[in-house]
Amino acid sequence: KIVNVILSGGSGTRLWPLSRKSKPKQFLKIFNDQSLFQHTIKRNTSLVDDFLLITNKDQIVEAAEQTKEIDQNFSKVIIEPVGRNTAPAIALAAFSLEAEDILFVTPCDHMIPDDDIYRLNYNKAIELARKGNLVTFGIKPYGPDTGFGYIEYENENVISFREKPDYKTAKTFFESGQFLWNSGMFCFKAEVFLEELQKYNPAIFEKSKEAFFSIKEGYVGEKEMLAIPEDSIDYAVFEKSKKIKTVPSSFDWTDLGTFDSLITYVQKNINEVDCINKIDGVDTTNSFFVGTKKAFGIKVSDLIVVDTDDCILIMNAGQSQQVKALYNEVKEKN
Ligand code: GDD
Ligand code: MG
Repeated sequence: KIVNVILSGGSGTRLWPLSRKSKPKQFLKIFNDQSLFQHTIKRNTSLVDDFLLITNKDQIVEAAEQTKEIDQNFSKVIIEPVGRNTAPAIALAAFSLEAEDILFVTPCDHMIPDDDIYRLNYNKAIELARKGNLVTFGIKPYGPDTGFGYIEYENENVISFREKPDYKTAKTFFESGQFLWNSGMFCFKAEVFLEELQKYNPAIFEKSKEAFFSIKEGYVGEKEMLAIPEDSIDYAVFEKSKKIKTVPSSFDWTDLGTFDSLITYVQKNINEVDCINKIDGVDTTNSFFVGTKKAFGIKVSDLIVVDTDDCILIMNAGQSQQVKALYNEVKEKN
């Protein structure tokens, strides 16, 4: 059985104030009236046998509503009292499935067109996963971005995996042409993942197993969850395992994590994002307004303005990685 394990845990603070804790970015219906969460489920419905959602108590109501809206449902849901990052989340999912089941792990905040290239790359990944590999989808990098994992590769073989290198390292990786970005989507058999986790991070393995046994009606026990060490699958397993393969993928992939990435996406796909418009006016270039109003400028360039009910964010284009830091500062003051 192939199960699409959907990870929905982050709150998208780099897209604040558009994305809020009560309504994280994956639930914003700004992509032709649908959310990235809904697009993710629709894209994978014909590919997999089943869905498993792993999320938290703040998101479960919205997730259930949006799933129903598109006539789907999750046969399994796991609700975390607190997030311990992706390694524990995926371990809980793997413990909930059969040893031979294949997990197709996907975030729900990426934009990928539902096309033949996607399906072709998916089929290759499933084939490699059936043979006992941990498979990642590699994306040809667009630049030396420090927010991604880097895969050094030769065809489907992985020479090394480096999560979020610093800028200098990312630049050499990018310029060498021998690295792909880790898309953050994975395929593997439940037992293969759990064996590798046990080998390279026995503490997360053991504590996740205990937490799995504490699950009642979908809810993981709080004490048990807090006992699991926090780490991402990238650091905990992918940087260490020898069983990694990659599918160099050529589908169009955008991680819509920041305003800059949203705007790049809008520029390529005009009319597909409902709330972002170019700022017109006199001598105004490369400036964007996020919101429902029409905005004009005079001699303005490289500006991003985000307008919401209760606050406005104004910044220079290219600075959107810093929104997270701003969010953390503002949050502390209020
Ligand atoms: N259920 C659950 N619980 N989900 C979680 C948790 C958690 O504790 N933490 C994160 N997630 C979800 C997020 O909502 C997101 O959908 C996905 O797991 C990945 O987490 P991120 O926090 O967004 O990871 P990242 O973007 O820093 O890095 C990962 O993705 C990149 C591509 O977008 C890594 O896999 C990188 O290597 C990769 O390049
Ligand atoms: Mg992410």
